[in-house]
Amino acid sequence: MAIPREVIEEILYRTDIEELVGSYVTLKRAGSNLTGLCPFHSEKTPSFSVSPAKKFFYCFGCGAGGDAITFVMKAENLDYPQAVAFLAKRAGIKIPENGRREDGMSRERVFAMNLEAAKFFRKCLFDPKYGQEGMEYLRGARRLSTDVIRRFGLGFSPNTFGMLTDHMHKCGYRDEELIAGFLCGKSQKTGRSYDYFRNRVMFPIIDVSGNVIAFGGRVMDDSKPKYLNSSDTPGFKKSKNLFALNYAKNNCAEQMILCEGYMDVIAMHAAGFENAVATLGTSLTSEQARLMTKYTKKVIISYDSDEAGQRAADRAIRLLGEVGLDVRILRLTGAKDPDEYIKLYGADRLRALLGQSKTWFDFKWNAIASKYNLETPSDRIKASEEACAIIAGVGSSIEREVYISQIATPLGLPGDVIKSNVEREIGKRRAEAKRKEGQDAKLSIRNYGDRTNPDAAKNIAANAAEEAILGMLLLYEEHRSAVLSGKVALSEEDFCTSLGKRIFEALMRLQVSEGGFLFSLLGEDFTPDEMGRMQKYMQTRAQLTENGPEVLARSVEALKRASQKAAESAGNISDLIQKKRNQSKQKD
Ligand code: UTP
Ligand code: MN
Repeated sequence: MAIPREVIEEILYRTDIEELVGSYVTLKRAGSNLTGLCPFHSEKTPSFSVSPAKKFFYCFGCGAGGDAITFVMKAENLDYPQAVAFLAKRAGIKIPENGRREDGMSRERVFAMNLEAAKFFRKCLFDPKYGQEGMEYLRGARRLSTDVIRRFGLGFSPNTFGMLTDHMHKCGYRDEELIAGFLCGKSQKTGRSYDYFRNRVMFPIIDVSGNVIAFGGRVMDDSKPKYLNSSDTPGFKKSKNLFALNYAKNNCAEQMILCEGYMDVIAMHAAGFENAVATLGTSLTSEQARLMTKYTKKVIISYDSDEAGQRAADRAIRLLGEVGLDVRILRLTGAKDPDEYIKLYGADRLRALLGQSKTWFDFKWNAIASKYNLETPSDRIKASEEACAIIAGVGSSIEREVYISQIATPLGLPGDVIKSNVEREIGKRRAEAKRKEGQDAKLSIRNYGDRTNPDAAKNIAANAAEEAILGMLLLYEEHRSAVLSGKVALSEEDFCTSLGKRIFEALMRLQVSEGGFLFSLLGEDFTPDEMGRMQKYMQTRAQLTENGPEVLARSVEALKRASQKAAESAGNISDLIQKKRNQSKQKD
């Protein structure tokens, strides 16, 4: 075990699961538990619950469950050591130096490596021998001042295959590390590593804590790909960071500007709009939307004016609206993106335009109104259907009223008529959501298509017994020691499913370890889905009043009977096959 048990116990002790989960989900008290909408699947009625006393969470809808570590693994998309580190940091606990995986790099080392590379790129940019072309491009074609170039830590990757690699070797970084961090590629032919970014101006991506987490590199002409980006690495998930948030976070309490490109953001900041951010070469994600809610209440989407940009804006409107942000849309005319707009018309014109940014509903309504001819009845019907569908997606009834009255006049329809149409649509969607939730729940109960425990469907009776036994063993110390002492005869071979075997083995291994069994330690060997499955076993048993030794004994008996049967019928089949073979041999 890489991270000492005491450290994990300390972290769990100091982590308030209610507060942790509560920072992602709105929780309401229900008896001794808290409930809310599950953050891991989409639902309209809460089936997600947290037990502060037991320090567990579980979703009856999708089966996600576990402890604080599992929650962080799922919510932040981290592996076990990373999730432990995340909680440790949150709780102000230091993890001992040797307490990390031997096979991976620590985040700290990735960050140190990236910082070294960023310094190297910057040095190259300011070195006339290597960086002249890059500097001319940034200062000339892109019209960036030296101040801005420095502020964003821009750099240049020379047009060689080995300069960065050699430099990083000298600094003590190994090939595997450089490759894992997307600073180097590996030659298929020679097996040697080479510089990944070449002849590009470099944009370091910096997180809110100031760590260099990745790079984007742009060519200086029209060649493809225009930008090369680091892929996700141990320290970096594109979907969870925003470019320039490290600067914007201090200037965006009132509003934030969301752009598509790095260059747009840099141009915005240079023009005095220091609240601009951009996604990292991907479309906006819900995680990024949630991240923005930590810093601001209002977001102005300033995407490219082309069709692709407008489609992307549509998606952003939805995602930002879902997390409750006030969403505005900037309409640029006469320029393809904010960077170009500022160059052509200046910062003052852009400021004026930002002040007139439209609400997301205006944006949508404009699109509808320009698509149809509102003078003709048939087009009016289509336009009102589309508008009602959009308004039906709005959570607040006051907001719905405002939009309804806004479109009543141009549509030439009474507000009441539009309103009842919207309400019918809402009703239809609720019914659909309910039906789908019910279906999902049924699917997750049935064993078929069970990816977490694929063997379950092969022997349903045995699996049911396994689930009961494992639930009781996970819950009760008394039962674990009974199995360990041999008072209850049960071994790994009795289990039919490979998941069951693995859980039993891990349970017993922890039971004999120093300090004994601890649910959270299972997280090291099991996926979050598997942790959720164990929670399900425990929840199911905990709801039953009878979990005593006789019940355990009966379940063990049932498992042995079921697995015996399975073995026999498997035996029968191989007997049959053997017989058939013999018969056909005799015929020959
Ligand atoms: P744009 O093509 O709009 O880039 O792509 P831009 O930032 O305005 O760049 P300039 O003005 O042409 O220099 C928007 C964003 O999409 C990602 C980058 O993050 C870029 O900033 N992108 C674009 C890539 O990752 N790869 C590409 O090949 C192109
Ligand atoms: Mn651009």
